[in-house]
Amino acid sequence: FATGIGFLLASYLIGSIPFAVVVSKLMRLDDPRNYGSGNPGATNVLRTGNKLAAALTLLGDLFKGWLMVILALRFGPGLGLDAGWIAGCAVAVFLGHLYPLFLGFKGGKGVATAMGVLLALHPLLALAALVTWLLVAYFTRYSSLAALLAAACAPIYYLLGAGIAWPADGRIGTAIGIISLMLIYRHKANISRLLQGTEGKIGSKKKNAE
Ligand code: G3P
Repeated sequence: FATGIGFLLASYLIGSIPFAVVVSKLMRLDDPRNYGSGNPGATNVLRTGNKLAAALTLLGDLFKGWLMVILALRFGPGLGLDAGWIAGCAVAVFLGHLYPLFLGFKGGKGVATAMGVLLALHPLLALAALVTWLLVAYFTRYSSLAALLAAACAPIYYLLGAGIAWPADGRIGTAIGIISLMLIYRHKANISRLLQGTEGKIGSKKKNAE
């Protein structure tokens, strides 16, 4: 049990590393919480026009989600941790990004980190979510709408492929469902902007923080 709690805590702490803020500091860019949507995430960092910074943010936030789930999958079973604990680590690293210890619990929306989690759990499922994101982003130019639709589809894809493309596991499925709901919840400001037609498109430059 103590090992499981250790894994959960480590997942939360690693998830708490805000790559948008870290990368921006290292590259001497403005703090992403002060412009655009105010969100510490790759989409908002892209509003500086610095594509490298946005790409590094995306990779960092994705990597931390992937890493903690891969570690739990690789070492958990040998240490007596079952799929319930692995599902817990997936949720914990994601929540670390949303409510980071290092930013006074004010974090991002979790799109890149959720992708990393899915990639570690089931690469094919991550690919399906990514294709959904890319298609919506390509046709609408809204990063948020792409994330919302990909997040809504991910649990459905999981159910469709369970027992066929990947083993069916209610605990992993529940974790994916929780992550999807939390991600959608964190986009509530984006949802109202989308409904009002005021949401910024990908690549449009920075405006004042909401
Ligand atoms: O990754 C977050 C994205 O879906 C929306 O970002 O900055 O436009 O709120 P933003």
